Amino acid sequence: MSKIEQEIAKRRTFAIISHPDAGKTTLTEKLLLFGGAIQTAGAVKSNKIKKTATSDFMEIEKQRGISVATSVMTFEYNDLLINILDTPGHKDFAEDTYRTLTAVDSVILVIDCVKGVEEQTERLMEVCRMRDTPVIIFINKMDREGQNPFDLLDELEQKLNLKVRPLTWPVNGGATFKGVYHLLEKQMYFFKVNKTKVEDDVALLELDSSELDQKVGERDANQLREDVELIEGVYDTFNRDTYLSGKVAPVFFGSAVNNFGVRELLEAFCQISPLPAARPTNVRSVDPLEKKFTGFVFKIHANIDPRHRDRIAFLRVCSGIFERGKFYHHTRLDKSVRFSNPYSFMASAKEVVDEGFPGDVIGLYDTGTFKIGDTLTEGEDLQYAGIPSFSPEIFKELINLDPMKSKQLEKGIQQLTDEGVAQLFTVQPGNRKVVGTVGELQFEVIQYRLEHEYGAKCRWIPMNTSRACWITSEDPKKIQEYIRLKGTQIGYDKDDNPVFLADSEWMVRMNRDNNPDIQFHTTSEFKVTAG
Ligand code: G4P
Repeated sequence: MSKIEQEIAKRRTFAIISHPDAGKTTLTEKLLLFGGAIQTAGAVKSNKIKKTATSDFMEIEKQRGISVATSVMTFEYNDLLINILDTPGHKDFAEDTYRTLTAVDSVILVIDCVKGVEEQTERLMEVCRMRDTPVIIFINKMDREGQNPFDLLDELEQKLNLKVRPLTWPVNGGATFKGVYHLLEKQMYFFKVNKTKVEDDVALLELDSSELDQKVGERDANQLREDVELIEGVYDTFNRDTYLSGKVAPVFFGSAVNNFGVRELLEAFCQISPLPAARPTNVRSVDPLEKKFTGFVFKIHANIDPRHRDRIAFLRVCSGIFERGKFYHHTRLDKSVRFSNPYSFMASAKEVVDEGFPGDVIGLYDTGTFKIGDTLTEGEDLQYAGIPSFSPEIFKELINLDPMKSKQLEKGIQQLTDEGVAQLFTVQPGNRKVVGTVGELQFEVIQYRLEHEYGAKCRWIPMNTSRACWITSEDPKKIQEYIRLKGTQIGYDKDDNPVFLADSEWMVRMNRDNNPDIQFHTTSEFKVTAG
């Protein structure tokens, strides 16, 4: 095996996603403890955007600042190099999460067994399904009185539009939770409330052995036998290829806070999760084993401290070897760029790196050269596909309060939207600027940053718009006609694509029905052409 083949075979790059409070932070922390990347519980907590902070965005930004360090957490386990890409738990930053999902090879979804599938989970899974991202599900908080596990699995299949396959199965839940039976290993893992334990209490038990009755009690042993029979009857045998194609999600049960079920999850993850694979671009699919380096920027983090205006662009290496100090081709700007101090996130400390392999994420200091989705290559003109823009939900018009500062305002709003803080649409007449976000918080953030970083004061005029649909047509005349007809309801996104700005979903439907020659797209991803 060549060096690059060996390095690729070692890498697993994934994200943990969940509805806030389901246990993502706790699970991340336990995985890092297993990998020895952190020594104490509580180390990851600082990354979490606290619920109480919703009205205080400065506090949130401070916490986001902390989260740069934990944006990528790398640890070694079983000879693998595992990169966890962190996603913000706060709903208003959901767009950040969607973009991070484009840079991973697989996902672990955490579900709270009491609450089941929650709204944000559905949206996140839609994004995973768009790319057929392989998903492992961890049903957490089994120490709490939750829903019946069969009902939970049904709910997962229905709401997430995904087939599931349990690989462990709980014996009871809540106060009488006794542990999980591993359906492949045929072992029983016994549960104990223990927030610090790392070793397991395991017993190899045949389902029909009398020892099982002795250990868990006759009634629960019989229930388990019945459940397992039902599972084997209802669900197909687990098949790794079906998981890798994103069609079926294996399910594990546990309790992250008690470090229970986490090792089984991690072991299974190491065995089945995908290594970096070929990725689509606008011209061809790029294999990670290709000699030449390619990669793309999926996240930009700005430092809001005016004394340190640097930004960090997070680059996912997709093929070849990224080398420090080498010139690369910035395909959007058609220019050469080089980085003398790229860094990695190994052992949670920032370290300058000389090389990066497919699957790795590298932090690049940026002075405004990058926009989300930008691609670097060794000369070839290609653009990585699939950093979608989703329809924002809240739209406001940006009004400049100081005509002397219109240049600063222009530059500021361009840069902030390049970072992906919000989406910018231009509406005619008068080149009006409409900003769309998924949360109120971003308007406060933008207003503050425009003033403090660019010296431009602004105010917002709320709009009735609640949906943006990218519009296309095979007939250029038809689209021109539609744009003329809709007038101020049409905006242009940053790439000059026309967008229909609608007041409601109903309005979108009506327009879709009445204009069969026009296609309405809910994400900007329609632009992706090659795979
Ligand atoms: P998030 O990142 O998905 O938002 O969730 P986080 O891990 O912060 O967990 C949310 C809450 O759920 C935390 O409690 C955490 O301790 C708790 N939790 C996580 N896993 C389990 C579990 O297996 N069982 C039970 N019963 N609780 C669990 P908190 O009170 O919000 O925070 P803390 O004061 O405990 O840190």
